[in-house]
Amino acid sequence: MLNQLKQNALKEIAATKELKGLDAVYRRYLGRKGELTKVLRSLKDLSEKERKETGTAANEIKRGLEEAVGEKRREFLAPSGKTPSLSRFGGTSGKTPPSGVNWLDVTAPGVKPAVGHLHPITLVQRQVEDIFQSMGFSVVDGPEVETEYYNFDALNIPPGHPARDVLSLGRTFYLKKGGLMRSHTSPMQIRYMEKHNPPIRMIVPGKVFRVEATDSSHETNFYQLEGLMIGKDVSVANFKAVIQEFLENFFKKSIKVKLRPSYFPFVEPGFEIDMSCTMCVGKGCAACKYSGWIEMMGAGMIHPKVLKSGGLDPKKWQGFAFGMSLDRLTMIKYRINDIRLFHSGDLRFLQQF
Ligand code: DAH
Repeated sequence: MLNQLKQNALKEIAATKELKGLDAVYRRYLGRKGELTKVLRSLKDLSEKERKETGTAANEIKRGLEEAVGEKRREFLAPSGKTPSLSRFGGTSGKTPPSGVNWLDVTAPGVKPAVGHLHPITLVQRQVEDIFQSMGFSVVDGPEVETEYYNFDALNIPPGHPARDVLSLGRTFYLKKGGLMRSHTSPMQIRYMEKHNPPIRMIVPGKVFRVEATDSSHETNFYQLEGLMIGKDVSVANFKAVIQEFLENFFKKSIKVKLRPSYFPFVEPGFEIDMSCTMCVGKGCAACKYSGWIEMMGAGMIHPKVLKSGGLDPKKWQGFAFGMSLDRLTMIKYRINDIRLFHSGDLRFLQQF
């Protein structure tokens, strides 16, 4: 009877065409209520002699069936359902591997692992740093938690000054325990002057924080780039040359730069800088609102009071400062139309860089 069971099981195993069928056969004979399992369970009711004989035979059949099922299973799981050829490698060409051996198809194409990459703003920050370093500027870092003194007072923005609460500079996150989140990178002008003697050439890329009702061009958290150059005779002409060199290097095309009079408390005179539109080259398009120009940054000659705050004698030293948004620079470069995408964590956006 046991022999019959074995023959049937082997036949059925051999006849299976797919994994599902094989599993069904396995369950029919070797599962919890399987036919062979029943035999093994009933051993306890037999006499000692019978138990020994039947037990030995049944266990042997069990091992044989498990092996046959295992072999068939490996056949189904072998790559692309066929038996791959390993002959090139001295393998067992065209044969199912012997039981207990797992397939390793060394010729199968690999699976590309997902790897991360740099954020677009980081890419732009690094490129900007390289360009300014090539012009002799140092790259420096500063604290994101600042004092009122560095964020305002030392920059000629005294308490009660309209710039303190009317301009966007005034939309500041104050901290309960004192201090504030810097609303611009300009405080680093003072910190740097305090510690370094001129001539000075430095840039500060970094995070800034502002209370904003966010929209496609405003975020509460964005990145700025501050620049400072001080010497005995550093002029507006030097500023224009440096910034033009930077923009042309960054956008890799020739660019016109225009200075418009403007007001910032920490510079005199102060300017707003426009560059010729990188997309329509000054002809007028949607990106530059048909003006041919794109607003890029604020700048000016450092105010004597600011030089004094930094411990420098305004009679001996002069220079320029500028500040721009790295987010904006990134948006222009990659034609991104919503600043909120940067911190959205949306992989469909990030994977494009
Ligand atoms: N700190 C200004 C802002 O956040 C930008 C700025 C304007 C920086 C003029 C400068 C400057 O250094 O000279 O709006």
